[in-house]
Amino acid sequence: METAMAFEIDALPDQEGRVALITGSNTGLGFHNAHDLAAKGAKVVMACRSEERARGAMERIGAEVPNADLEFLAADLSSLEAVRSAVAEFRANHDSLDLLINNAGIGIAPYAKTADGFERQMAANYWGHFLLTMSLIDVMPDSAHSRVVAVSSLAHKQGAKEIRFDDIHWEQKYSSVGAYRQSKLACLMFTLELDHRLRAAGKSILSVGSHPGVSETELGRSLPKVVKLLTRYVVGPLISHDPDKASLPTLLAAIGPDVEGGDYYGPQNKGETRGDPGEAGIHQCAQDEEAATRLWELSVELAGADLPF
Ligand SMILES: NC(=O)c1ccc[n+]([C@@H]2O[C@H](COP(=O)([O-])OP(=O)(O)OC[C@H]3O[C@@H](n4cnc5c(N)ncnc54)[C@H](OP(=O)(O)O)[C@@H]3O)[C@@H](O)[C@H]2O)c1
Repeated sequence: METAMAFEIDALPDQEGRVALITGSNTGLGFHNAHDLAAKGAKVVMACRSEERARGAMERIGAEVPNADLEFLAADLSSLEAVRSAVAEFRANHDSLDLLINNAGIGIAPYAKTADGFERQMAANYWGHFLLTMSLIDVMPDSAHSRVVAVSSLAHKQGAKEIRFDDIHWEQKYSSVGAYRQSKLACLMFTLELDHRLRAAGKSILSVGSHPGVSETELGRSLPKVVKLLTRYVVGPLISHDPDKASLPTLLAAIGPDVEGGDYYGPQNKGETRGDPGEAGIHQCAQDEEAATRLWELSVELAGADLPF
């Protein structure tokens, strides 16, 4: 895989006739992925938890991309039951899926337990996407143009750099930052483990990871106001880039022509916080195969689903 120099969306292939499902596409980075894929001609299924917010986003995209083919799918990733309903609805309306972009996420949120008994950041960012992927992968054509993209983060290599298997639901000592970091590490471990399993099964579908660097979106909505202001006016201008740019590593992972399974894309400045998209660094903590296998087995148990092949 070569590092993209002057990145051009126009140089990426058209997506006419293809179906992309993007979770959390009503705002932030997922919104820009939905916009760009719709502009490329894909039918974009916007899998969101708020129909009102999704429909607002669809209107905004439609205003800029007149022929945008957009569809709303109710999907709350923090609930296994809601993910099962979303899968049933998708399958009732579609025979196949070309791109599954696991983007939805919450960041640094206060502790909350979901109906499934999961810590909510892990629930929305990881467990729900695990179930979604296991439940839809059999309708993805067996081709390298079929991609599962998981959105990770620089946060995967910060802090503990491990999965807390002994307190997976953060019931003992909660850290909002720690749980977020863990969820993003889980997303990247999942990308690599899914890639191994797809290859072992002789499948051509690609499992690819991405991270946006740093971008001011609604992700920090739970943060104290002073932290938000500091981020916006002091730290942000030094290290961040706009969401339309920060969404490009995911777009490249989804439709880039030279992408291979297990690739990981992010911005290209020194700290990978901003810049054109290209190959990104995977910390060794995400390449711990024993931990990845253990996480996979636990995910199968908790989500109640596995690869169908
Ligand atoms: N922004 C950054 O600097 C940054 C850095 C590293 C990684 N990321 C990752 O990038 C991805 C997108 O984040 P963003 O920055 O675009 O944040 P954002 O602006 O807050 O957008 C997050 C999206 O996820 C949706 N979402 C949250 N919980 C959900 C749930 N339970 N079910 C369904 N959808 C849910 C949100 O829907 P609602 O509007 O309904 O809440 C929203 O559409 C996340 O995975 C995040 O971890 C972002």
